[in-house]
Amino acid sequence: MRKARIVGTGMAAPSSVVDNHLLSRCMNTSDEWIVQRTGIRERRVSPDTYRMLLRLAEAPDKIAFMDEVFAQGLDGKIDSTLTVSDLAFDASSMALKNAGVEPRQLDCIVDSSTVPDFAYPHTGCVLQGKFGLTSTPAICLQQGCAGFIFGLAVADQFIRNGIYERVLVVGAELLSSIFDYTDRGRDMAVLFADGAGAVVLQAVESGESGLISHHLHSDGTILDGLSGEVWGTSTYPAISKKKIEEGRGRPRMNGRSVFVQAVRRFREVIGVCLNTNRLTVADVDLFIFHQANIRIIEAVADALKIPPGKTFNNVERYGNTAAASVPMALHEARAAGRIKDGDLVLLAAFGTGFSWGASLLRW
Ligand code: ACO
Repeated sequence: MRKARIVGTGMAAPSSVVDNHLLSRCMNTSDEWIVQRTGIRERRVSPDTYRMLLRLAEAPDKIAFMDEVFAQGLDGKIDSTLTVSDLAFDASSMALKNAGVEPRQLDCIVDSSTVPDFAYPHTGCVLQGKFGLTSTPAICLQQGCAGFIFGLAVADQFIRNGIYERVLVVGAELLSSIFDYTDRGRDMAVLFADGAGAVVLQAVESGESGLISHHLHSDGTILDGLSGEVWGTSTYPAISKKKIEEGRGRPRMNGRSVFVQAVRRFREVIGVCLNTNRLTVADVDLFIFHQANIRIIEAVADALKIPPGKTFNNVERYGNTAAASVPMALHEARAAGRIKDGDLVLLAAFGTGFSWGASLLRW
């Protein structure tokens, strides 16, 4: 039976490392608070965010400094030195190299990024252009942290149905560019960070190896749980003074609601994935969860009785990189020898929307 198989993985993260101690100099927080609640010790951010944080740490009036950053950028220099499509390009280039596939051999690109380079076109098109491709279709998804799972499912349909042979699936985020790193935004700013991950899917006509099933869900009735209006049409005009003055240009999150919903939905969707395939936890070699926060992961693992040795986590080093987190963890798990040929791997993610899903694959 025709299937889609992962033939290459890749990832990219900015070189600037921000530990919890630097954040503690910008806002009222502590290494202890962040590690206890989230398991995050450090994260990677763009050079622009890093430079801003170093200056914010020294600023006597942090709120005034941050307001100035939002109003004008630093030093009046507003163009970013690193964009989300740059990270997507680096992760994709690594995945293509590892797969032995040239960009021109791709039949389609599926990208998921929460905050793009431009409002439009979305990141997939910008990425496609950076590869010098001029007609390969680029599909752009916006399921936040669940985006990569949705991307895998979309790409898999094209391959299974014989429409495409090779598809690049990417999750890339430059989230540090949207947060308020003062006390006003500390609930979210300590969690999220920048990074990208990618896989190349290729059609195989026989064998056990390949993507097996996907289970996708969304619930758009709890928008206050986790959302951002930025340039959305929630105000007229889309970019309005009102939106900026009311702080509605910044992301918002109800941490408790996200926690409860995430644990519930992870449990449900993993249960459905296992039942559909007549499997138990014992049959799966490795679980890779969206790296939101270690307490969510541990709560899900406890509830489903998944032993610690069957999960792979890197949230401690990268924080929550939203759509990039699952492919980054997948790449690192494979590179570390935690996924061997023939292993059964279950991926699961939950994010804004809310949207959540699980994918099962045989490596
Ligand atoms: N440092 C110190 N204090 C903080 C910080 C911070 N960075 N952020 C918030 N606080 C304060 C709050 O203001 C609040 O203070 P108050 O009680 O005086 O009002 C207090 O800490 C809240 O403390 P707790 O109730 O103990 O916090 P809790 O245990 O609920 O943890 C957290 C908060 C970490 C946000 C938790 O709710 C959580 O993990 N939620 C899930 C959020 C998440 O993972 N989002 C990711 C996006 S979705 C996804 O990827 C799945």
